[in-house]
Amino acid sequence: MASPGQIIFWSIISIIIILAAAIALIIGFGISGKHFITVTTLTSAGNIGEDGILSCTFEPDIKLSDIVIQWLKEGAMGLVHEFKEGKDDLSDQDEMFRGRTAVFADQVIVGNASLRLKNVQLTDAGTYKCYIITSKGKGNANLEYKTGAFSIPEVNVEYNASSESLRCEAPRWFPQPTVVWASQVDQGANFSKVSNTSFELNSENVTMKVVSVLYNVTINNTYSCMIENNIAKATGDIKVTDSEIKRRSHLQLLTSKASLGVSSFFAITWALLPLSPHLMLK
Ligand SMILES: *[C@@H]1O[C@H](CO)[C@@H](O)[C@H](O)[C@H]1NC(C)=O
Ligand SMILES: *[C@@H]1O[C@H](CO)[C@@H](O)[C@H](O)[C@H]1NC(C)=O
Ligand SMILES: *[C@@H]1O[C@H](CO)[C@@H](O)[C@H](O)[C@H]1NC(C)=O
Ligand SMILES: *[C@@H]1O[C@H](CO)[C@@H](O)[C@H](O)[C@H]1NC(C)=O
Ligand SMILES: *[C@@H]1O[C@H](CO)[C@@H](O)[C@H](O)[C@H]1NC(C)=O
Ligand SMILES: *[C@@H]1O[C@H](CO)[C@@H](O)[C@H](O)[C@H]1NC(C)=O
Ligand SMILES: *[C@@H]1O[C@H](CO)[C@@H](O)[C@H](O)[C@H]1NC(C)=O
Repeated sequence: MASPGQIIFWSIISIIIILAAAIALIIGFGISGKHFITVTTLTSAGNIGEDGILSCTFEPDIKLSDIVIQWLKEGAMGLVHEFKEGKDDLSDQDEMFRGRTAVFADQVIVGNASLRLKNVQLTDAGTYKCYIITSKGKGNANLEYKTGAFSIPEVNVEYNASSESLRCEAPRWFPQPTVVWASQVDQGANFSKVSNTSFELNSENVTMKVVSVLYNVTINNTYSCMIENNIAKATGDIKVTDSEIKRRSHLQLLTSKASLGVSSFFAITWALLPLSPHLMLK
């Protein structure tokens, strides 16, 4: 039998435990403060010398003044870019990004935190973090940015050569790509012994011009010149008949999967660049 003294004692202990738990909960909420919001990035690649976009989206917030966007790069001392209270704040920006970054200010309110990067350099490659704070909470996602050079090849008939030859030429590639020829008629054939590929360094000493010549080609056949490195894959097709030459080409970025994104919305493994495939008739 518990004495009244014991009942009171245990009641007080229980109340203290309950109160302690409640206080711990309140403090816990106070520290974590807000909820996490979904932030989604898309791994992408930049073409050296051109402008690039680092893609990042987040759960939108109607209060623009509460939105803070921070872009950070692994290994960089300062920030890549900061946007808060409705405008850029570049006071902590790293030297290497000075004058080269912009967010799409009118798109921030709909949850677009993408960053435009001017004049992409080889050294811009790396891991970026898109860090977002809104009145609903905060969140972040990483993004792998690859840099290199890639361009569409053009295939032409080389009228000068001793045998019927095709010449595939692309102005800018980096790192050095592989070049493989294929034909519709001889599928699976290995053309490495009847072709000759050369790489010529461009004047900036980084990117290279790719030229590949395929010998002994036959009429009424479609040939493809495929150029590929770890960033992109490009194809130039040509078909020569008695009466005409048909050409087309396209370029694909070999992006890896959407990184660390919570949502599967952007989880596409291949991004297709809509670089108007052209069909030319002569
Ligand atoms: C963000 O806005 C820019 C500029 O309008 C656009 O090019 C880009 O595709 C947008 N990104 C997303 C993920 O919607
Ligand atoms: C074609 O051959 C002529 C003479 O052999 C040469 O002068 C010319 O440079 C060549 N053209 C090309 C595009 O190779
Ligand atoms: C084609 O043959 C060469 C050697 O002649 C070889 O190095 C290359 O791997 C072959 N390519 C394919 C796609 O089989
Ligand atoms: C092209 O074909 C001719 C005749 O069949 C042959 O003599 C020549 O070696 C071939 N050229 C190449 C690069 O294979
Ligand atoms: C390939 O091209 C280079 C430069 O144009 C030339 O020196 C070489 O002899 C060629 N090789 C073959 C197998 O045609
Ligand atoms: C490229 O390299 C060559 C030789 O190494 C040098 O003369 C030239 O100045 C370099 N060009 C640039 C843009 O660095
Ligand atoms: C190429 O195809 C056209 C139409 O199909 C045909 O008339 C022509 O004889 C063919 N030429 C050769 C060399 O096979």
